[in-house]
Amino acid sequence: MTVDGKITTRENAPVDWTSREDKQHLLRMRALADAVVVGHSTLKADNVRLALPKGELRDERVARGQSPCPIRVIVSNAGRVDPNLRIFESTVSPIVIFSTTRMPRASQKLLREKATLHLSDTSQLDLVWMLQQLRTEYKVRTVACEGGAALFRSMLELGLIDQLNLTIAPLLFGGSDAPTLTGVGKEFLPGSVRCSLEKVKKIGDECFLTYRIKHRKR
Ligand SMILES: NC(=O)c1ccc[n+]([C@@H]2O[C@H](COP(=O)([O-])OP(=O)(O)OC[C@H]3O[C@@H](n4cnc5c(N)ncnc54)[C@H](OP(=O)(O)O)[C@@H]3O)[C@@H](O)[C@H]2O)c1
Repeated sequence: MTVDGKITTRENAPVDWTSREDKQHLLRMRALADAVVVGHSTLKADNVRLALPKGELRDERVARGQSPCPIRVIVSNAGRVDPNLRIFESTVSPIVIFSTTRMPRASQKLLREKATLHLSDTSQLDLVWMLQQLRTEYKVRTVACEGGAALFRSMLELGLIDQLNLTIAPLLFGGSDAPTLTGVGKEFLPGSVRCSLEKVKKIGDECFLTYRIKHRKR
């Protein structure tokens, strides 16, 4: 995010305003996870494959007993996922879509050729159920959530985030409507989320932070 807490530009452009080092950092974090999860809007806006480059990161995963790339998970309530997105051109790892039975039949048919669909019979996807499915059906133990803000906020509100890796880029965007880390919503979170700062690293003008999220006792 920027110094003023914004995660995207006026045009919702992909994050091309952070350094090469930050992009490497993202890949390193992705490479630790069994599954990488992304919200449908981010997937549409950034049109990313969510893979890992060939080489060290993949080799290290294999040496650890993981698959070369994490399972790629798309989260959508409405399910209008375009099967022509770039992610579907890459076969580096399975793609799993969690959505609801609101997904149009035609989309279901096309997407089943490229991904595994888990559709809940509810109007809103239950993210706890999603994580349970990932754990039981795909043996996933660690999940890297790469946003966007709407998905991150939902997970945060449900107490599903353990760690936050935050890069502060040396920019200010302004814009009262521009999304922050927790989105554009004007509402406060139901309760403040406390974080403990575990790591700080300065590289060039960027600051790399690792926070542990303190979970409230339920
Ligand atoms: N700076 C960064 O590091 C960073 C990181 C990621 C993204 N971004 C930027 O953030 C922008 C997108 O963020 P965003 O907040 O608008 O969207 P988002 O979280 O990526 O996606 C929102 C969509 O994902 C689905 N979704 C989210 N939460 C859900 C839940 N709890 N249950 C079911 N589905 C859920 C819904 O899809 P349906 O509409 O299909 O139902 C929802 O409309 C993009 O411009 C992207 O470039 C920046």
